Amino acid sequence: MALVTVAELTRAAAEGGYAVGAFNLNNMEILQAVIAAAEEERSPVILQASQGGLKYAGIDYIAAMARVAAENASVPVALNLDHGTSFEQAMVCIRKGFSAVMIDGSQLPFEENASLVKRVVDVAHSVGVSVEAELGKIGGTEDDIVVADEDAAMTNPDEAAEFVRRAQPDLLAVAIGTAHGVYKGEPRIDFKRLEEIKKRVDIPLVLHGASGVPDEAIRKACQLGISKINIDTELRVAFTQAVRNVLEAAPAEIDPRKILGPAREAMQKVVREKMRLFGCSGKA
Ligand code: G3H
Ligand code: ZN
Repeated sequence: MALVTVAELTRAAAEGGYAVGAFNLNNMEILQAVIAAAEEERSPVILQASQGGLKYAGIDYIAAMARVAAENASVPVALNLDHGTSFEQAMVCIRKGFSAVMIDGSQLPFEENASLVKRVVDVAHSVGVSVEAELGKIGGTEDDIVVADEDAAMTNPDEAAEFVRRAQPDLLAVAIGTAHGVYKGEPRIDFKRLEEIKKRVDIPLVLHGASGVPDEAIRKACQLGISKINIDTELRVAFTQAVRNVLEAAPAEIDPRKILGPAREAMQKVVREKMRLFGCSGKA
């Protein structure tokens, strides 16, 4: 089937009390791992491309790979721009066939963030593409986006309500204590804040920086209204560990398929586990 929007998948998730996993796409092995996991779990799935992913693979390859995957899959697949940096970039992604875009104006003052998102929403909605926005600043590092601990800022629930009213995104990414990349200690999630945001905002909420967050906290976040969960770092770790294992066991190996095949399997296993944890298994 054709790519579907993230809004469509997460509206169903919000009603059903589960979250849909969003996994970062950088190459064919990741794509195949994610789609195979979704098929096995009978789960809807979101593929997304970060700034680093777009630079590494190229937007045409990302769009083409996701389109082919969706057309051949028996489960619904969405393609999202992750942490989009400008109106222009969101437009290019829409023209290239993305079914969803995130426009990340979280570094901007409230007013500027809201008006940037609204501009993207007006165009995106006219062509059936959904939009994710971010309010508050999620800490950590994801490719080019680096937010130092002292600059991270939690989402204010009242501001979130006003932001959604003005900018009208389909989804809102919230800063509630998670961070991108590998955690130094155990992440402390502000569930109370999530509850307060949920009371005031009636669109699906997104949890970024979910790699390394304990399972119990993820379950609770889903119960409290998170409908999309982003995972990147744990796929990187699974990939790299599997490649290391192969090369340590067989340093003379020169066949890329024998090196990347196990990495693909390792990522597939991680994605399946996440889908079960998020509750989206069996929801396709
Ligand atoms: O936007 C993508 C993510 O929020 C992924 O975060 O690398 O900590 O899994 P992560
Ligand atoms: Zn993120």
